[in-house]
Amino acid sequence: MRLVLVGPPGAGKGTQAQFIAAQYDVPQVSTGDIFRANVGQSTPLGLEAKRYMDAGELVPDSVTIAMVEDRLLQDDAAKGFLLDGFPRNVAQAEVLDTLLERAGTSLDVVLELVVDDEEVVRRLSGRRTCSSCGRVWHVDFDPSSVEGQCDHCGGTLFQRDDDKPETIRRRLQVYAEQTAPVVGFYAERGLLERIDATGTVDGVTARILAVLRRFDR
Ligand code: AP5
Repeated sequence: MRLVLVGPPGAGKGTQAQFIAAQYDVPQVSTGDIFRANVGQSTPLGLEAKRYMDAGELVPDSVTIAMVEDRLLQDDAAKGFLLDGFPRNVAQAEVLDTLLERAGTSLDVVLELVVDDEEVVRRLSGRRTCSSCGRVWHVDFDPSSVEGQCDHCGGTLFQRDDDKPETIRRRLQVYAEQTAPVVGFYAERGLLERIDATGTVDGVTARILAVLRRFDR
């Protein structure tokens, strides 16, 4: 299975990606997670990316595309992958097409997670992420049992720097201007499936898996 998850910040891409990747036994390739890991280790890539992430802007294509290309060439991605957060503009989508074509393959489906801006703000302002295992929680919708501590691994929970209200507003603008056209790009190619991403996490997962069953081989 080769699939792309697209949707505004906070739509639940990371939350759903972990279930889908486990169900289909494919690696979850999240560009945001790769950038954050590099920021955490203060690599040159991380230092470059952080400036853009903190401002809610896209990291330049020159950096992002090379990073994704490298990741997709790793052995575990040969049987399939789930891309979360890439492509994020039409130029990235075109490069992905070329990479897959060169490898003699193509995408099976692109899932668009649909939520409105009000819900995005609610979800992002309460999001907490584990500093050890990366598990994502929410203070109201999916709280850990001990405040500030991950139930899975005991790690400390933190709030992302780009989840401040002014950065969320900019990320939503960037989504509308640069990423929404990617949805049209895939709709034209007949690859797009729209998923109502409101309601419970389990409810959204069930809707996604029902759609994906049509692509099982
Ligand atoms: P990235 O990390 O990809 O951020 P994003 O796309 O803005 O998405 P988020 O991670 O904020 O949200 P999500 O949809 O994964 O939601 P989540 O599951 O966490 O990118 C960050 C930055 O990196 C970008 O701004 C950019 O600078 C850079 N970048 C990344 N990719 C790039 C690219 N390709 N090109 C250039 N730059 C790039 O859920 C959110 C919260 O809601 C959680 O607390 C969760 O518990 C809760 N939640 C989830 N589902 C539900 C539900 N159904 N009901 C209630 N709560 C829910």
